[in-house]
Amino acid sequence: MADLKINKFPDPILRSKAAKVTKVTQAEKDMLSDMARTMYLSQGVGLAAVQVGIDKQLAVVDVGDGLIKMVNPVIVKKEGAEACEEGCLSCPGATVTVERAKKIVVSFMNEDGDVKELTAEGLLARAIQHELDHLSGKLIIDYLGPIKKMLAKRKIRKG
Ligand code: NI
Repeated sequence: MADLKINKFPDPILRSKAAKVTKVTQAEKDMLSDMARTMYLSQGVGLAAVQVGIDKQLAVVDVGDGLIKMVNPVIVKKEGAEACEEGCLSCPGATVTVERAKKIVVSFMNEDGDVKELTAEGLLARAIQHELDHLSGKLIIDYLGPIKKMLAKRKIRKG
């Protein structure tokens, strides 16, 4: 097991669109386990592979109801909208109010390569949408207006 370093803004990998995983191998399984361990050590509720420098569509989430490991996650249904404050391990010190769907259905492959569909609401739905943003190169600061975004960037850079 490896301890992974979490990349912080403005690391350019956080802006890359993660590559789709064609086959789930032992390498992906190990990566998902290392990511979960890193998420727990950092006391986060989710982590995407790009945050630890891996250009693959892998994400882990745990909002207190158990660990979910996702490969190539795609949201297939969205319902409602809710605004709530979020933080991000890659944007330390920044909290941003983000409007997201209240309820989602997400489709993904699990670590055995089986296709799963999960219906999520509330914090879990929010965490999954946040991680999917990471996989397409989007960060919470992108939801801010220009002035607030500039201030948040400055705060993150200062650490
Ligand atoms: Ni994040």
